[in-house]
Amino acid sequence: MPDLKRIGVLTGGGDAPGLNAVIRAVVKGCCNARIEVLGLEDSFDGLIEPSRSRVLGPTEVAGILRLGGTILGTTNRGNPFAYPVETSQGSRDYSARVIETFQLLGLDALVVIGGDGTLAISYEFFKKGIPIVGVPKTIDNDIVGTVDCFGFDTAVNFATEAIDRLHTTAEAHHRIIVVEVMGRYSGWIALHAGVAGGADVILIPEIPFDLNSVAARVREREAWGARFSIVVVAEGAVPIGGTVSLITRGSDATAVRLGGMCARVADELESLTGKEARFVVLGHLQRGGTPTSYDRVLATRFGAKAVECLLDGQFGQMVASTPPVISTVPLESVVGKQKRVPLDSDLLRAARALGISFGEPLSASVS
Ligand code: F6P
Repeated sequence: MPDLKRIGVLTGGGDAPGLNAVIRAVVKGCCNARIEVLGLEDSFDGLIEPSRSRVLGPTEVAGILRLGGTILGTTNRGNPFAYPVETSQGSRDYSARVIETFQLLGLDALVVIGGDGTLAISYEFFKKGIPIVGVPKTIDNDIVGTVDCFGFDTAVNFATEAIDRLHTTAEAHHRIIVVEVMGRYSGWIALHAGVAGGADVILIPEIPFDLNSVAARVREREAWGARFSIVVVAEGAVPIGGTVSLITRGSDATAVRLGGMCARVADELESLTGKEARFVVLGHLQRGGTPTSYDRVLATRFGAKAVECLLDGQFGQMVASTPPVISTVPLESVVGKQKRVPLDSDLLRAARALGISFGEPLSASVS
């Protein structure tokens, strides 16, 4: 068992409801084990600038369980191996500085709460000798090795409520409403919120879509008297032979901003069906606000498991939800991969059985 006196905790990448619940569980667990916790600000920036850290104790984490966001701040442009340099073009490798700061601050280990990018950086530092425990974070639910992630349930609940609201206005005006949800590489939010909200069409990155088939579904509904349709589209969905819709191309992968597919879909559906169509982007509303009770519990279990890993000296691991238990998986097995919706998943099958269309070409769709 390692003799730990002081550990650091940071949050990286896009925020997710439940981050504060993890921080709270880590701080409380460490305090019980007489380990001091330093909160590092704005992801790895807190290990580039030694002054950007502060001690966290029970007082500092009191009342944060229900708060969205992160009390430590975050950034998705904080890769120390290719750090953005404000004064000149390009980036520099600040990894040696991070290791120096880690030592200077007297840290014995790090708990890193982040998504695929942050976990990949963590794995690189683990290989360089920093004892790290990873905690997965994403509303998109696309991290491999864990069945789910805190933030996902909150996002799905929010999107479901939005779809419920859109139903009433779509029905009143006999319109098609296209609602865009997050999901860069995977359609988990679209699929779950679409099924929960009773959508008619769900377009996800895993299944390239054909708008003629979506239009056919709308017409079919008209034929039996439903004069409106709800289409849920994941931001990363692509038409067959087409490309993702971008708001900003960006200079690197983290700067690429997806968005706008709902406008393209609404526009083309209007021409194909002759029906009025509207679109709405739920965007960051899905990430903000208070976590659901499910996410608070999952985040708390993740934080508690991370402390167990620290105490047992299990480093280079990511805590993971593997019902009924929280377990660990090696960081190495997680980085550089995305957990996509399996095409043979029972939820997809159930959705199809209910008549939900995924926009597959008519000849290819499974009934
Ligand atoms: O965390 C992933 C995600 O929610 C993606 O679905 C989305 O593309 C991205 O974050 C947007 O993040 P930001 O606006 O912070 O760059």
